[in-house]
Amino acid sequence: MPNAPIPMPCLAHALFGPCPITNYQLPMTIEIQPSINVKTAIESRRAARSFQPDPIPPAILAEILRLGVRSPSGYNLQPWRFIVLQDQASKEKLKACAFDQRQVVEAPTVLICCGDRRAAGPKNTEAVIELGKTTGAMNDNLAGYMRQAIPQLFDNRPCFDSLEAWTNRHTMLAVAHLMIAAKSFGVDSCPMEGFVSAKVKEAFQIPEEVDVCCLLPLGYAAEPFKQYGGRFDVTQVYYSESYGQALQAEI
Ligand SMILES: Cc1cc2nc3c(=O)[nH]c(=O)nc-3n(C[C@H](O)[C@H](O)[C@H](O)COP(=O)(O)O)c2cc1C
Repeated sequence: MPNAPIPMPCLAHALFGPCPITNYQLPMTIEIQPSINVKTAIESRRAARSFQPDPIPPAILAEILRLGVRSPSGYNLQPWRFIVLQDQASKEKLKACAFDQRQVVEAPTVLICCGDRRAAGPKNTEAVIELGKTTGAMNDNLAGYMRQAIPQLFDNRPCFDSLEAWTNRHTMLAVAHLMIAAKSFGVDSCPMEGFVSAKVKEAFQIPEEVDVCCLLPLGYAAEPFKQYGGRFDVTQVYYSESYGQALQAEI
């Protein structure tokens, strides 16, 4: 995982709050490192169905959220949006939209993971262009190309059948980043499709143009995970050169 500088004020505030006398915030930064490497995080991540009440330390949660949106996106349009629930009342409200699944109220933090179809519009393209300028990645040629190519992509849709498929594709990649980043800090998760989208949208004032892709409780698992269900062998799911053709390569 990358070495991520966390602004010291965040951590200091998280741990101690602002200095009550001066309100002074330390200007230095520190780095927060995961304790579990990527391979172990992937292999030990399991869907947690019950959580301990312990909160995720704010600095760790902030780092998980930051790493989650290092996920890639087409033209860097980043259509994912997340509602972070920490209040018990909000989680109770969500549970009622999620077939009463208990992990929604037990987990200290729950993300409602959304994809905003409006990210396909010119306003977002301009925001991405501006963002690229701040990092030095954008020049006038590239900006011109994006202003021309992105509307064509969404008008003609050669790469997806619906805008909902497009938002889901991107948001779920970010969800995967979130789960692995979380596990690398010892934080468990449970990706969830078991919810009624219309109910979630109404309960949390989610605009019509926004799709709810997944719920993601985050926290510390309370009980042993279910027996590992296994995964199909790589030879069953990876093909060679054309669909269905056996992969002979040694893996
Ligand atoms: C898109 C998606 C939706 C899921 N929805 C639910 C859900 O609503 N409730 C639940 O308990 N688990 C849910 N799961 C978890 C799966 O049941 C779990 O990932 C699968 O059984 C494999 O177990 P493992 O993740 O522990 O290896 C979901 C997983 C994914 C990827």
